[in-house]
Amino acid sequence: MKSIDVAAERRYSVDFVTDWQGALLDYVGEKQAILLVPESLIQILAGLPKDFRRILLPDGELQKDASTYIRVLEEVSQTSLNRTGVLIGIGGGATTDLTGFVAATYLRGIEWIAVPTSLAGMVDAAVGGKTGINLRTGKNLAGVFHSPAKVIVNIGFLKTLSDRDLRAGMAEVAKCGFISDLKILDLIREDWQANIPELVSRSIAVKAQVVSRDFKESFEREILNYGHTLGHAIEKHSNYAMRHGECVSIGLIFAAELSRLRSGLSDAAAEKHHQILAQLGLPTSYAKDAWSSLYEIMQSDKKKKSKLRFVTLKQLGEPTRLEDTNEAELQHIYEGMLKR
Ligand SMILES: NC(=O)c1ccc[n+]([C@@H]2O[C@H](COP(=O)([O-])OP(=O)(O)OC[C@H]3O[C@@H](n4cnc5c(N)ncnc54)[C@H](O)[C@@H]3O)[C@@H](O)[C@H]2O)c1
Repeated sequence: MKSIDVAAERRYSVDFVTDWQGALLDYVGEKQAILLVPESLIQILAGLPKDFRRILLPDGELQKDASTYIRVLEEVSQTSLNRTGVLIGIGGGATTDLTGFVAATYLRGIEWIAVPTSLAGMVDAAVGGKTGINLRTGKNLAGVFHSPAKVIVNIGFLKTLSDRDLRAGMAEVAKCGFISDLKILDLIREDWQANIPELVSRSIAVKAQVVSRDFKESFEREILNYGHTLGHAIEKHSNYAMRHGECVSIGLIFAAELSRLRSGLSDAAAEKHHQILAQLGLPTSYAKDAWSSLYEIMQSDKKKKSKLRFVTLKQLGEPTRLEDTNEAELQHIYEGMLKR
């Protein structure tokens, strides 16, 4: 079995398996366990022992609503699960974010296992230890770092994932290629669908390395935000109608063009961003008249440091940061993206 280690506030492994149920039952053993799963994915549980306790969740971001979080905590507290028990989140990134947050806060912290079923969940949400829910004022505003005890990756889950969610998840895969592992870019160019197993494990390896060096995002982890400054703003501006990965794709093009202008990224490397994201069928520009709102959102993003700052690339695989930008140059780049 292939496995990748992550050294965060605790050490854990990301295990690549085909028999995910066997791997889960082996790990849980005699421990008390509760599964958290969206009702829409319930068929995934066929084959697990019927007496496995489960809590059903709504689909998508509703899982990360404060009311769902409280409801799940209450339901967990009505069972006999104690501090040695374990929660298991089976689903996309929304499910693992919620499960981790419930686990972090129930009895001041119990173990949890992530079983991601979406591509975004596998390559991004389940690995790294960030857990949380949304508030009315914004996404992911309540949360803590609480790493899972184990991540179980079964590529077979992706067979039922929609084409849109698969492509959206590929934006994060491509990002890992641009910032660190150039082989990812070759594998996408060659045949991304056929190469998904290797693309997933390489992307997880990139995230695991970065998170192991800087768990709480003091500096190095920030490179994972390549493409995310504008991406997050577009996500918010679209009222979350667009997928995170679709917004990140546009953000990656923007970051590449900014890198070309200010950080010495070559024309060929910037061009590679356009080719790869277009090949994945992901969007590469956004509404022309949205610029001033997007700029305002970027400036007011609660997570941003004091100054608006971007992760850029000096060359493929070599990220840096840029703070001294001005609105005119950013707007020029944004509008240039629409003219291609
Ligand atoms: N914690 C982190 O570091 C981190 C990182 C990135 C994203 N996230 C969070 O993850 C969420 C986005 O992840 P997501 O795209 O997986 O969202 P999601 O969990 O909402 O899943 C997207 C859709 O895919 C469906 N789905 C999942 N697996 C499926 C399968 N195997 N077959 C069929 N349908 C399936 C889900 O039911 C849902 O409708 C956001 O809430 C985001 O904030 C967290």
